[in-house]
Amino acid sequence: MKILSVVGARPNFMKIAPFCRELSKHPEFNHVLVHTGQHYDTRMSDSFFLDLDIPAPDIHLNIGSGTHAEQVGKTMIEFEKVVREEKPDWIVVVGDVNATCACSIVAKKEHIKLAHIEAGLRSGDIDMPEEVNRLVTDRLSDILFTPDRFSNANLKAEGVDSSRIAFVGNIMIDTLETQRDKAIVRNVPDMVRRELLVPRDIPDLAENNWAVLTMHRPSNVDQIETLKPLVDFLTDEVTEDMPLLWPIHPRTQKQLQIFGLWEKVRKKAILLNPLGYHDMVRLNIGARIMFTDSGGLQEECCVLGTPCLTLRWNTERPITLREHGGASVLVGNDVNRIRAAYKDVLQLERTPQRPELWDGHTAERIVETFLSRVH
Ligand code: UD1
Repeated sequence: MKILSVVGARPNFMKIAPFCRELSKHPEFNHVLVHTGQHYDTRMSDSFFLDLDIPAPDIHLNIGSGTHAEQVGKTMIEFEKVVREEKPDWIVVVGDVNATCACSIVAKKEHIKLAHIEAGLRSGDIDMPEEVNRLVTDRLSDILFTPDRFSNANLKAEGVDSSRIAFVGNIMIDTLETQRDKAIVRNVPDMVRRELLVPRDIPDLAENNWAVLTMHRPSNVDQIETLKPLVDFLTDEVTEDMPLLWPIHPRTQKQLQIFGLWEKVRKKAILLNPLGYHDMVRLNIGARIMFTDSGGLQEECCVLGTPCLTLRWNTERPITLREHGGASVLVGNDVNRIRAAYKDVLQLERTPQRPELWDGHTAERIVETFLSRVH
């Protein structure tokens, strides 16, 4: 059976790694890995292939950055050529980035069966580009591999027949469990010194006494009216309590510079390059608190138990929220709300949680599904 799987952007890599590894154990699969090139910087892409032992892509489309239409359109044009040449039995896409959506459309227009890993997540917010990608991809997929029971319910509510839904758990957690030991031995001050984006003195980084911030969503970083109050709270108030470690996404760096916020941020926060997988997990393990708008980090905080303030008004991952047993609180981008939740969360103990089937064996279940259901 020939399986062609697709990655494009950073959050895809930790989802594809366990799948590649598991497929490679079964000689009945001929696996072709395609990288669309949506993310291309070494720190946003290549470093994850090395850290997570992902085989080098068989095919690279080199799409790069652009508007959504440019990214999706160029990916579709190039991916169609690949599909016609390779003629796979199945196309497998992961997550919710533009590459996921573009390649799903091509798959079905070329009459190839499509499987989606991380299906059924819904934020209900159609203004998020990822929500558009999720809706399109799931509508087109023949098998929907879901990470949790909320996702199963979302798909059923949309009328998806249960024969198409395979509840397999969260594949990101396979990667977390495989890599955790390599992360934990990292020395944080050494790593922070190595990854400093702007030279500066490093304060004492006592375990369980630093904050980590990641932020890249257009809804948080693209308007000064939103970004400035957030930055002011984080740099004026949080840094009074503890060091603020901020691995910075290229989009966010660009916006801070455009809005004239860069000087303040670089003085008050400890700005880091985009981090490799193990470095990021290590920071998470020792963090007192995480501020993030990333989906994957909400999930990793849940399993590691790190109190997490999710800088969004909604989440497609409700299982990570405190009301459902997780470690996150939705705080949006309203500073008063963030401040109140911050004070509250500082009183909490770290409480690791393990949602159903977030057990490190999701890729095995996915490959078993292919072996048993797919001909
Ligand atoms: C994309 C995903 C988002 C995911 C995020 C993780 C979509 C719609 N969004 O958003 O779901 O959470 O990746 O990072 O697919 N850039 C670089 N180097 C790179 C890649 C990007 O400098 O290797 C800069 C470019 O200026 C680019 C900008 O970052 O224009 C945004 O990149 P893009 O891929 O469009 O979206 P992300 O914000 O990264």
